[in-house]
Amino acid sequence: MGILATLLLGTMSPTYGLDNGLAQTPPMGWNSWNGFRFGVSEKLVKETIDAVASNGLKEAGYVYIVLDDGWQGERDDNDILQPHPEKFPSGIKALAEYAHSKGLKLGIYSCPNVLTCGNETGSLGYETIDAQTWADWGIDFLKYDHCPTRNQERDLPGEEILKRYKTMREALAATGRPIVYSIADKGWVDGTDLSNPDRFSWAPEVVNMWRTTQDIKPKWSRIMQILDWQDGIAHLAKPGAWNDPDMLEVGNGQLSLAENRAHFSLWCILAAPLMLGNDLRDMSPEILEILTNKEVVALNQDSLGKQGEKVWDGGDQEIFIKPLAGGSLGVVMLNRGDSGTTMTLEWDHLKLSATATAQLRDLWKKADLGEFNGKYSAEVASHDVVTLRVTPKN
Ligand code: GLA
Repeated sequence: MGILATLLLGTMSPTYGLDNGLAQTPPMGWNSWNGFRFGVSEKLVKETIDAVASNGLKEAGYVYIVLDDGWQGERDDNDILQPHPEKFPSGIKALAEYAHSKGLKLGIYSCPNVLTCGNETGSLGYETIDAQTWADWGIDFLKYDHCPTRNQERDLPGEEILKRYKTMREALAATGRPIVYSIADKGWVDGTDLSNPDRFSWAPEVVNMWRTTQDIKPKWSRIMQILDWQDGIAHLAKPGAWNDPDMLEVGNGQLSLAENRAHFSLWCILAAPLMLGNDLRDMSPEILEILTNKEVVALNQDSLGKQGEKVWDGGDQEIFIKPLAGGSLGVVMLNRGDSGTTMTLEWDHLKLSATATAQLRDLWKKADLGEFNGKYSAEVASHDVVTLRVTPKN
């Protein structure tokens, strides 16, 4: 290479896209935040790993066990961020080895800021060293959470935030270790105007998944609000790149069984990453049954990688459709209202001709419903769903 070319290349910042081959279907796993906040510890994580490896969750596809905020201690003399010595006495490398020995993967949390949202040490200015440390530890997943309020950076231009995400993308790539790259942007790059059709359009080239909103809570009203905020961005999702409406609250708070089932079905139809947020060491059989319903999970993990969209909005009742590989369709009929009602799925919603015949299967009842023409009506209880797989006949 000539001297001029070398000089020029040396001054140009790299502009690689994200091409890490990971997250070909929405990542599935568990994250410590929703259930435990700063109570994350080696003991909790090991017990969670044991639970996932033995209670059917691993077989259902949940493999990423992610430490959220609160794992950190101080940087050492070499600037290497150490784990909190009391919470993680054996260190993170040993924990990753433990996860790997059970066929699972380990994830970690940091921020593109000086401080994390929880006032711990962030990665700004230390991206290369932190990414390498995580790779050396055997980390498989990073949640990178932009925290402007904590850092008095609410006026930071979108371009600067994006630059920080890209800096970490390059640092992760440079380690050579496959690490799923997840960010919690929540609209800081583009602003929170939900009518902006271009919001998050930069994300698929930068990360594997991006948080679309502020934090979820284990409340029906908040889950519905977050659902509404997903409108208009489904086209961005594809294998390797997913809209993230936040981690699941299934099994948390006072959600009823119907609400838990509805929340899970909706996240599945949205092709959302399925990061569990409850205590996996101690949950009811009904909750475990929801999380391990293979046919509902299969809607989420479908290889076509399309995000489902709302195709009908009747106020308190809504219908979502997700195209699947092989020509079938996933359907969620949602009743947000306070009383049960009859809902009708029209073939028009499915973009099928009114005379077409389709086979229907109810994925919660685990029952074949038979063949239907033109429409299908079902009773949907309050705050509940009917979740279907529709297979058109040729
Ligand atoms: C933010 C994120 C949460 C969690 C906390 C940790 O609020 O949105 O998901 O990671 O920070 O402090």
